[in-house]
Amino acid sequence: MIRNVICFLVGLCIISCQETDDVFFIPVPDHFPELTVSLDSPATPQKIALGKRLFFDTLLSIDSTLSCASCHLPEFAFSDTLAVSLGVNGAKGKRNAPSLLNAGYGSLFNKDGGVTKLDIFSLLPIEDHLEMGFPVLQLVKRLSKDAELQKEATIAFDRDLDPFVITRSLAAYVRTLVSGDSKYDDYVKGKIQLSASEEAGRQLFFSNKTNCSKCHEGILFTNQEFENNGIKSEYLDQGRKLVTAKENDRGKFKVASLRNVAVTGPYMHDGSFNDLESIIENYNLGGQSHPNKSSLIKPLNLSAEEKQSLIAFLNTLTDKKYLQ
Ligand code: HEC
Ligand code: HEC
Repeated sequence: MIRNVICFLVGLCIISCQETDDVFFIPVPDHFPELTVSLDSPATPQKIALGKRLFFDTLLSIDSTLSCASCHLPEFAFSDTLAVSLGVNGAKGKRNAPSLLNAGYGSLFNKDGGVTKLDIFSLLPIEDHLEMGFPVLQLVKRLSKDAELQKEATIAFDRDLDPFVITRSLAAYVRTLVSGDSKYDDYVKGKIQLSASEEAGRQLFFSNKTNCSKCHEGILFTNQEFENNGIKSEYLDQGRKLVTAKENDRGKFKVASLRNVAVTGPYMHDGSFNDLESIIENYNLGGQSHPNKSSLIKPLNLSAEEKQSLIAFLNTLTDKKYLQ
């Protein structure tokens, strides 16, 4: 009996040791939480390399004009500079492209949380006629003609290039976009001090006076929840309600991470705010009235100096590593 148990444990160890030998753990900064890994397709350097190649390839859109990076530009923290993104044939999208930095930490994707798995996320932009407009099986046919790509797929996934290979490699790459190397991170690690204005802004941000950090929480600056932050009195885009069909979810959107926020404008789900000044002003006034507005949003009575310091603090959250 005991021998059987030992054999079983040894067997288990061999299987799991082999697994961990193959699995590539994406390095994250020491002060960051562990990163969610793909359960059905653990990352390897080969999968990540293939995903990176596909991410920047315009062959992924039906008319070969757009890659993922057309709307998620590295120099803007993997967001773009438009209020709402433009898809193939100049089709106007419905929402503002979010930064993909630290997206791998999310559990629900898109601003309404309508996608539950990063592993299959790419099917959406690839097939959406307002984005890349390409039925994925047709895309497979196009990409398979490239012998080099086909070879990379076989090496990385041990199977022919197919929708699984496309979606899992892109997800593997997106998960590597971890960003935790800003001035604020140096401050957290005790390496530097913030300027007087940045420090005043930091204290305000994490105070009960502003409540900012109740939603933009922790080291990732988001609690990953859905909230109505009072930017409209009427919401054309129903947000979270589109997914849950609950009236009290109307106008709730995923709490945006504020990392790299200095370079990700325009802001909010519809790109309706152009700069940080107007956002702070809206929060300062307690937002627009709406039945679903969070009780955390209330008039703040900030002085001009306090508003400036909040902005100075938000500017410390930029990680320059990806921006070149
Ligand atoms: C035409 C512009 C456009 C293209 C091309 C595009 N995206 Fe996006 N992406 C967006 C917009 C807009 C959103 C937000 C959509 C929403 O909230 O409904 C988004 C959201 C995302 C998200 C969710 C992020 C989060 O944290 O919720 C991921 C991941 C993503 N895109 C990856 C990709 C990948 C991978 C590709 C290429 C296969 C791609 N995108 C192509 C515009 C684009
Ligand atoms: C009740 C939760 C909540 C509170 C409190 C809150 N926010 Fe937000 N914040 C959100 C949500 C939700 C969004 C995204 C809304 C959208 O997509 O339309 C957001 C978006 C933002 C954005 C734009 C980010 C982007 O990339 O579009 C900034 C900047 C911001 N908040 C700063 C702050 C500051 C500064 C405070 C404190 C004065 C604050 N927030 C308080 C929930 C909150």
